[in-house]
Order: sequence, then structure tokens, then C-alpha cells
Amino acid sequence: MKNDVFPSGTKGRGIYLPLLAGPCHLESADILDRLVELVPDEGTYFELGAWTASTACYVADHRPKATVIAADRFPDPLRAMLALANVAHRPNVRLWRGPAQSLLRLCRPGVFDVAFIDGDHHGPAVARDLRLVGRKMKPSGKICCHDYEAPKHPGVTDSVNEFCGQTEWCVSGRCWSLVVLGRSDAGAG
Ligand SMILES: C[S@@+](CC[C@H](N)C(=O)[O-])C[C@H]1O[C@@H](n2cnc3c(N)ncnc32)[C@H](O)[C@@H]1O
Repeated sequence: MKNDVFPSGTKGRGIYLPLLAGPCHLESADILDRLVELVPDEGTYFELGAWTASTACYVADHRPKATVIAADRFPDPLRAMLALANVAHRPNVRLWRGPAQSLLRLCRPGVFDVAFIDGDHHGPAVARDLRLVGRKMKPSGKICCHDYEAPKHPGVTDSVNEFCGQTEWCVSGRCWSLVVLGRSDAGAG
């Protein structure tokens, strides 16, 4: 199906993707492809901060056998509608409406292959999310954070660096402002 309403390309606040309602909030499509690369065929991807769910759905479309879980408070009904439109025909995507931390507390440990943290960008919130997500990752799992070393979001950089200094997690890859963390004994990502 051709999508004339939201053509692909970079516009205004993000990338418009074909077959998705609304933009995603990333500065380059390279980030989308890096996220996809990290997700095993039948893996589990978790996104904290779904917004329109277009990033989550991009991953879902490229990893149709994977399970994609995207959480957002959805404070804006329009964003919620766009997210619902996006997941409607994608059976491998589940949306959580509410604080992502509530969902994380319900998940058993060691379930995610990839977690993409892109929610509240303030330092203490990122630190909390890293700690919560870290417990839910498989041994070879990767935690990705958006806006690392972005001048507008010093809290992301500080919290990621502190988390790496205090835990077994370390930087294993980078794509634009996406930083990829892996456990120190688990190889590059
Ligand atoms: C920058 S946007 C996410 C962009 C999206 N990841 C993408 O790739 O297009 C940040 C989102 O995080 C959500 N958010 C912030 N704190 C949250 C929390 N504690 N739980 C769930 N969602 C949260 C906001 O509602 C907002 O939609």
C-alpha cells in the first residue's frame, strides 16, 4: 500500500515512515536499522516511551517473529490514537498505557533481548529506568538509550555514564545519539 499522507523522509520533528501513522522521534533512520539489527529473529524488544509507536512498529515489521512491547503514558489522546492505529494490524506488538515502570515491575527478570529507553530524559528518571530495565535483560541483552551526549539532555549522558561506572554494563556501540550498552562479558553490539 502506498502511503501518500505520511511519506518517508525527514520532516520537522522526526522521520515519517511509510505505512506508519505519524513520525518517530529519532534524528536518523540509521537508528531504526541499528535497533532492528540488535533484535534476534524471535527476540523480545521493549521500548520505554512509545510516542506514536512508529519506532516499535518499524522494529516489529522487520522482525515479524519477535515480540515488541511499547509503553507510554500517552498523555496526549492524538498520540494514543496514532499509536493504536500503528499497532492495529501488527499482531506482534503490544502497547502498555501507563507508567512504564509499573509494567517493568510486573515482568519477570531476564526477558528482554533489547530495551530502548526513550522516556523521561531527566537524570534521576533515566537512572531509575536503567536500573529497572537492567534487571529484566537476558544475559546477552542490549540496553539502548536515546539522546546520549545530546546537549539538551545532560541527564541522559550523566546517568548512562554513572550506570556503566557502577554496574557490569558498558558502552558497546553507538549510532548517532543512540548508545548501546551490553554486559562487559557479552561482546560488542
Ligand atoms: C521522546 S518520546 C519517545 C519517542 C519514541 N521512542 C520514538 O522513537 O519515536 C518520549 C515519550 O516517553 C513517554 N514517557 C515519559 N515518561 C514515561 C514513563 N514514565 N512511562 C511511560 N512513558 C513515558 C512520553 O509520554 C513520550 O511519549
